Amino acid sequence: MPSTDNTPQAAYTGVAKIIHLVTALLVIANIVWGLRMEHFPGYKHGQPEWNDLLFYHASLGALIFWLTAVRFVWRAKHQPPKEPATMPAWQKLAAKLVHGTLYLVLIALPLSGYIPAWQATIRSASGAFSIGRS
Ligand code: HEM
Ligand code: HEM
Repeated sequence: MPSTDNTPQAAYTGVAKIIHLVTALLVIANIVWGLRMEHFPGYKHGQPEWNDLLFYHASLGALIFWLTAVRFVWRAKHQPPKEPATMPAWQKLAAKLVHGTLYLVLIALPLSGYIPAWQATIRSASGAFSIGRS
């Protein structure tokens, strides 16, 4: 059973591992989806087919953002495991920098998607759901 105090855990908690795995799968799926949108046969900005693809892309992106927010809350209470004592200081620093950069990207990338969403509403094909200005 993982301890709930804020001391480093012996290993990443199950919750952290699940969020990490789901986030990684969603990010990879959204990169493939985003690149695919550009080559969709009926691709044209503002058309219903384009909007539908974009809507699901944006929804996955929003999910990544909120999963990262949950991850931050969990991380504040459950410190990740310490690096091995034998690890050189420069490698510890490098790991910190890479993890920090990954967190920044996980927040900044979905948020940057809302810049085009400010110009026009992203609406699902049925029109039932929308992201951006309504
Ligand atoms: C989009 C893909 C991915 C993202 C955004 C990502 C992000 C992250 C982040 C932010 C951490 C730091 C966790 C923390 O200490 O709070 C981490 C740790 C880690 N990730 Fe990923 N990850 C991705 C894919 C992968 C994949 C595919 C693997 C392995 C196959 C992997 C293996 C690991 C491992 C082993 C750690 C722990 C490193 C350590 O103990 O220092 N990650 N990842
Ligand atoms: C981690 C989350 C996300 C990833 C990895 C991602 C990735 C991508 C990729 C790879 C493209 C194709 C870029 C190109 O080929 O030029 C793209 C396009 C796009 N994404 Fe995302 N995206 C994410 C989140 C979002 C969100 C949350 C939104 C909207 C709220 C969004 C809106 C857009 C739009 C509007 C385009 C098309 C830009 C254009 O062609 O005019 N993205 N995204």
